[in-house]
Amino acid sequence: MAIFLDEPSRTFSEYLLIPGYSSSECIVDNVNTQTPLVRYKRGEEPALHLNIPMVSAIMQSVSNDSLAIALAREGGLSFIYGSQTPERQAEMVRNVKNYKAGFVPSDANIAPEMTLADVLDLKEKTGHSTMAVTEDGTQHGKLVGVVTSRDYRVTRMDPATPVREFMTPFEDLIYGEEGMTLKEANDIIWDHKLNALPIIDGNQRLLYFVFRKDYDFHKQNPLELLDGQKRLLVGAGINTRDYEERVPLLVDAGADILCIDSSEGFSEWQKRTIDWIREKYGDSVKVGAGNVVDGEGFRFLADCGADFVKIGIGGGSICITRETKGIGRGQATAVIDVAKARDEYFEETGIYVPICSDGGIVYDYHMTLAMAMGADFVMLGRYFARFDESPTAKVNVNGTTMKEYWGEGSARARNWQRYDQGGEAKLQFEEGVDSYVPYAGSLKDNVGQTLHKIKATMCNCGALSIPQLHEKAKITLVSSTSIVENGAHDVLLKANSVQKI
Ligand code: IMP
Repeated sequence: MAIFLDEPSRTFSEYLLIPGYSSSECIVDNVNTQTPLVRYKRGEEPALHLNIPMVSAIMQSVSNDSLAIALAREGGLSFIYGSQTPERQAEMVRNVKNYKAGFVPSDANIAPEMTLADVLDLKEKTGHSTMAVTEDGTQHGKLVGVVTSRDYRVTRMDPATPVREFMTPFEDLIYGEEGMTLKEANDIIWDHKLNALPIIDGNQRLLYFVFRKDYDFHKQNPLELLDGQKRLLVGAGINTRDYEERVPLLVDAGADILCIDSSEGFSEWQKRTIDWIREKYGDSVKVGAGNVVDGEGFRFLADCGADFVKIGIGGGSICITRETKGIGRGQATAVIDVAKARDEYFEETGIYVPICSDGGIVYDYHMTLAMAMGADFVMLGRYFARFDESPTAKVNVNGTTMKEYWGEGSARARNWQRYDQGGEAKLQFEEGVDSYVPYAGSLKDNVGQTLHKIKATMCNCGALSIPQLHEKAKITLVSSTSIVENGAHDVLLKANSVQKI
């Protein structure tokens, strides 16, 4: 007979934290948000940690190289999406590892035989008006020119005009060379009144742009997540099918950690993938696994050797898995159950396997709750999709600026490996939707504000670190009647006076 769990599974909004004693030490400036990213033995330090407990979702509409750079600079980590060719994904990883403050890999590139119509399309898609013209149209191809909006007049020109006819050709370009410092690049920009300076290598291949508008932004950030060679840390999503081809390319590109991206991770496929990685690389390649929603799933993946375990089925904002397949579990209950199993596992084996709460974070306080319930860090999709640095276009929807955000299981993402169960290589049914989320500005500003709130709440709980929060948090269920009190109520709100996130 089937097993029935008598308690309903619950989500974050059904809980609140009860403040604990805060000493005078409990101030935001004293809170340390460092948290382990990979498994470690009792008494040892983890090989990798995060400086803030936030990672970005393995999704086309969230985690590309530009978001990964912005997030690592704030102390978190992105997992570059795997629903693209291994080569393209490896290139994004390489871009993050090669990142130097102020030197930006070009993400709007075009070939000379393409047309004005293609330029306009690309501008719409990327939001960038400065485009590199490379021989093969790739990011690091041989630079043959640059196109900016000053080079064409849409009303006067035939959309079929080839780029080569109106670009500024290489011979007329002012460029910088590999090895140049940011100061030298900026001096050229100022001397020649440029908006952007392409930087090329000895073979005329494009490396980066340096932009005038970025001039002020290059202050060091104390929480920046760096490896031993002072390069930013970056992760990458993998699947349980093409790992033999994909993993070597990602490792070669410098990925610091991988994560098996699957909507249901309690499976032999995950074991096979981890076994293959361990056989080929031993422990030197770190790999997270998931998703699971109970202690049994956690223990399976921990025994398989996963470096961290990801929790969550069906709670994502763009997710319709529960509707289409009837599987899942309320995210709060799943986290509480897995955290208990993680602690028991640590007790028994002396190995601490960090856990990540993935999906369903709506308010900032949900992040604090997830960690109070035992999560070591959280994975966010919708949250990051709203920022400037996410890969998607800004669009105006009924007068409001929005960004596009779509699920990896939507027809748009067509992430076969993740959702197709091993049968025909085509999408049988959708598990995610295509949507808009309100545009919210820069990652730095938003993450700063969110962290401030998390730290303030931790202070209210008397916790100056995430492990202390795990120990000290007092959590209560709220009745459906009292949930009404969570927001402003029984008053008439003045327009736009209450910002929820
Ligand atoms: P969010 O932060 O609530 O937007 O949730 C993001 C999470 O949803 C991701 O990290 C994935 O675990 C999950 N997810 C992404 N795409 C899909 C989908 O198409 N269907 C179901 N879940 C998805």
